[in-house]
Amino acid sequence: MILVTGGTGYIGSHIAVELLAAGHSVVLLDNLANSVASVVPRIEKITGRAAAFYQGDVRDAALLASIFEQHPIDAVIHCAGLKAVGESVTQPLAYYDTNVHGSIVLCQAMAKAGIKRLIFSSSATVYGVEAIPPYVETMGRGSCTSPYGTSKAMVEQVLEDLCASDPEWSVAILRYFNPIGAHPSGLIGESPQGVPNNLMPYISQVAAGVLPELRVYGNDYPTQDGTCVRDYLHVVDLAVGHRVALKALETPGASHYNLGTGQGVSVKQMIDAFTQATQVPVAFRYAPRRDGDLAAFWASVEKAQQELGWQATKTLDDMMTDTWRWQQHASA
Ligand code: NAD
Ligand code: UD1
Repeated sequence: MILVTGGTGYIGSHIAVELLAAGHSVVLLDNLANSVASVVPRIEKITGRAAAFYQGDVRDAALLASIFEQHPIDAVIHCAGLKAVGESVTQPLAYYDTNVHGSIVLCQAMAKAGIKRLIFSSSATVYGVEAIPPYVETMGRGSCTSPYGTSKAMVEQVLEDLCASDPEWSVAILRYFNPIGAHPSGLIGESPQGVPNNLMPYISQVAAGVLPELRVYGNDYPTQDGTCVRDYLHVVDLAVGHRVALKALETPGASHYNLGTGQGVSVKQMIDAFTQATQVPVAFRYAPRRDGDLAAFWASVEKAQQELGWQATKTLDDMMTDTWRWQQHASA
C-alpha cells in the first residue's frame, strides 16, 4: 500500500491512477491548498478502484501517525508542496515551511512508524544556473534562482543525510523536467489557479479563448529559433516513472533520477506542435525575456533507462492532444 502526499494535485492524481491500475492500494493525503476533492471520485472513475483520501496537512504529525496506524503503508510518494516559483520569491517562509519542514515532519513520522521507503518529487531546477545541458545525475546541485528551487535542493540534502545516517532508508529522488499533458480520459489534468505561469496551460487557455494572447518570453536566446528550450514530458509517463521507481526502493540509500524525454523543444516549436495537433491557432507575440529563465536545458535519460527500465513513450502530439481535451473539459 502506497501513501501519495499531494495526491489530489496534478502529478499526484496521475500517480494514483497509475498505481491503482497496476494493482497497488493507495492512500491520498492533501490539504487541498491547490487542488479539489472532486479529483478523488474521478480517479475511481478512471481506474474502477477507490483510493482512501485524507484531507489534511503533511506537517500534521498526529494525522500522519494515525494514517500509518490505520493502513499498512509500504512506501510514501511525497508530492505535497508549493510550486509557484514567483510566489516563492515573495513568500519564502511559506515555501520553506511547506516544502522543507513538511518533508522533515513526514520523514519523522515515517521513521516512527518504521516505514523507510520514500520517493520525492524534485525538480531539474536543482542543477542550478551553471549546469550545461544535458543535465546528468552525476552533476552536483548548483545555485537555484528561487526559494522554490532552493527548497527542493534542501530536501534532497536532508534525504541524502538521512540515508547516510540509517542504512534502512531507501529514497528515490526524482528530478522532473517539464511535465505537461493530462490523462487521456480528460477527467484529470492541471488546473492552475488564476493566470497560469507555465507555458502549456497558457497556450491551451489562449487557444480556448480564456486568455487573449501568449507572450513568448524572449526570441534572442542562443537557440535554434531564439526561444527557450525545455524538456517537456507527458504527465502519464511521469506517473509511470514513479511506479517503476518503487522497485529502486529495494536497494538502500538515496538515488537520483532525471525524468524527462531527453529532447529539447523550443517555445515556438511548442506553439506549432499545439496547432498541428489540434488545428487551433494560438495568438502570440514576442516579449522581453522573463527574469530567471535559462536559455535551454534537457535531461540525460540514460540512468532511468538503465536502472529503472523507464523511458518516456508519449509523443509531443499526445501531450498537445491530451492537454487540449482536458482544457475543453475544464472550460466547458
Ligand atoms: P500541485 O500543486 O498540483 O500538487 C501539489 C499538491 O500538494 C496540491 O494538491 C496541494 O493542495 C498539496 N499541498 C500543498 N501543500 C500541502 C500541505 N502542506 N499538506 C498537504 N498537501 C499539500 O503540483 P504538482 O505539479 O502536482 O507538483 C507535485 C510536486 O512535484 C510538487 O512537490 C512540485 O514541487 C513538484 N514538481 C512539479 C513540477 C511541475 O512542473 N508541475 C516540476 C518539478 C517538480
Ligand atoms: C518553471 C520553473 C521551474 C519549475 C517549473 C514547473 C522558472 C524559472 N522555472 O520552469 O522551477 O519546476 O516551472 O513548475 O520559473 N514561457 C513563455 N510564455 C509564458 C510562459 C512561459 O514564453 O507565458 C516560456 C518560458 O520563458 C520558458 C518556457 O516557456 O522558456 C517554459 O516555461 P514554464 O512552463 O514556466 O517552465 P520553466 O520556466 O521551464
